[in-house]
Amino acid sequence: MELDDVNSITVLGAGNMGHGIAEVAALAGYDVVLRDINEEFVQNGYDQIEWSLGKLAEKDQMTEEEADAALERVTPIVDLGEAVADADVVVEAVPEKMEIKKEVYGELEEKAPDHTVFATNTSSLSITDLSEVTERPEQFCGMHFFNPPVRMPLVEVISGAHTADETMDLVEGLAESMGKTPVRVRKDSPGFIVNRILVPLMNEAAWIVHDDAATVEEVDSTTKFDIGLPMGSFELADQVGIDVGFHVLEYMHEVLGDAYEPCPLLAEKVENENLGKKTGKGFYDYD
Ligand code: CAA
Repeated sequence: MELDDVNSITVLGAGNMGHGIAEVAALAGYDVVLRDINEEFVQNGYDQIEWSLGKLAEKDQMTEEEADAALERVTPIVDLGEAVADADVVVEAVPEKMEIKKEVYGELEEKAPDHTVFATNTSSLSITDLSEVTERPEQFCGMHFFNPPVRMPLVEVISGAHTADETMDLVEGLAESMGKTPVRVRKDSPGFIVNRILVPLMNEAAWIVHDDAATVEEVDSTTKFDIGLPMGSFELADQVGIDVGFHVLEYMHEVLGDAYEPCPLLAEKVENENLGKKTGKGFYDYD
């Protein structure tokens, strides 16, 4: 399949990343299906797209008409078979757990047309392992967006052991057609490039607070004003979702070793469902 043949994109998972990716694809002119496991999740994702497009129009980053047209290109659907029936590319953004993703790919393989390319937005998990659940590992790669997708220009395009060059070319071209800058990641290793650097930074920040060496605010001031990142480490953890960073760390710890041991402070936040902006409370309050 060539890039010109891609008309319809299905995004699986309507959470933070899923609805953001669907928005980016709709803005690029693709017909988009946004799918999640129940009406509430899928409607919530759709509402978030509407909010975000409204904000962009309010800030003159697009016209009202462009925002409306993009929203019209998004169809929320719950039934998986219906959601992928016409998909040329499926971008999967379901929770960052190997078992959940494998289950989704098992079902997806049965329901998607043969030509459909599968692109996972996993933040860290093995592309090769995920692709082997399907019967099309050559049509499978990573397509990793950053939060919030509509604002972040980078996309990591990651090759699994079986990914065909044509698939990498297609997905790279797809990212470019969405106005993003793709970076090709040759080696399928935990966290790829960005998260291998960024998630340990969030973890180390948590260890500093856990060890009572500094407060959340002190660490964030340092990361913002001295290291020069756009957000403090804890602000970023709240933005990304503390659970997302935590699951990435758990996987990196399992595969790469003790240097990546997740800080108990993160585990505690996850246990108490204080996951950041999306739950209204994380390291900061958002009410
Ligand atoms: N759509 C539309 N508007 C949005 C938005 C969205 N998705 N998200 C936020 N906004 C709005 C806010 O509501 C706010 O609006 P108001 O001014 O009306 O309150 C406005 O955008 C803020 O925008 P600004 O440009 O003023 O803010 P900023 O200059 O601080 O930029 C940012 C915001 C681009 C998010 C910037 O802070 C940034 O780059 N942060 C770092 C983000 C980052 O590193 N992301 C990667 C995380 S790692 C990851 O995602 C990988 C993973 O797998 C874990």
